[in-house]
Amino acid sequence: LQADPAKAKVIVEQVCAACHGVDGNSVAAINPTLAGQSQQYLHAQLVAFKAGKRQNPTMLGMASTLSEQDMVNVAAYFSQQKVKPRDASDKTQLELGKQLYRTGNAATKLPACMSCHGPAGAGLPEKYPRLGSQHASYIVKQLQDYKGATVRNNVIMTDIAARMSDAEMKAVAEYISGL
Ligand code: HEM
Ligand code: HEM
Repeated sequence: LQADPAKAKVIVEQVCAACHGVDGNSVAAINPTLAGQSQQYLHAQLVAFKAGKRQNPTMLGMASTLSEQDMVNVAAYFSQQKVKPRDASDKTQLELGKQLYRTGNAATKLPACMSCHGPAGAGLPEKYPRLGSQHASYIVKQLQDYKGATVRNNVIMTDIAARMSDAEMKAVAEYISGL
């Protein structure tokens, strides 16, 4: 299907904007920023919500109302928005967060996040999502959701989350939010 981001405007303004912002930069920390995220990744998440493979009652409701063409269009729309840089709100753990993000943790065989999500958190379109400037508490929630693989499942991220302590998740999330 051909993406038509202009056609997504009505849906975005009437539905998604309340939580994700009309430009994809969300204000409330429980709602992820979608701006600048890759089209493929955004589309894949909507499909996963609709199928119940990524479990979230709010987004199941939202995705259920969207056709395949709508999902292609809104994914294209948000991928074209500009992400607003954010500053880490809790700066006390930035050193640990930076170390985990850039080098991982040899003791627990945790790989460096940077190796996939990129040195500046921009990700790699079609492969790895952008993380930079995302809300820290949203990132922590996703890592917890991957851990145990009941709410959200991915071969790579489930293994990574299982190697992380709660303190490590918090620290790396704060560092990422400031990237
Ligand atoms: C997550 C799209 C409406 C609340 C997401 C994600 C996408 C998305 C792609 C996953 C982001 C990621 O993985 O980084 C949309 C679209 C909408 C819409 C296209 C309009 C049709 C809403 C509304 C709300 C909302 C109206 C609030 C009532 C959330 C929340 C999450 C989320 C809380 C995180 C879920 C989780 O923790 O797994 N949305 N959204 N969304 N959205 Fe929406
Ligand atoms: C997704 C964090 C390392 C590959 C994610 C997400 C987070 C995250 C928060 C969800 C993004 C969102 O919901 O918008 C981290 C952290 C890492 C790390 C903190 C280091 C401790 C890696 C590595 C790889 C990788 C090393 C590749 C080998 C992926 C992939 C996804 C993803 C493929 C998308 C999974 C899906 O579709 O649900 N990561 N990541 N990550 N990450 Fe990582």
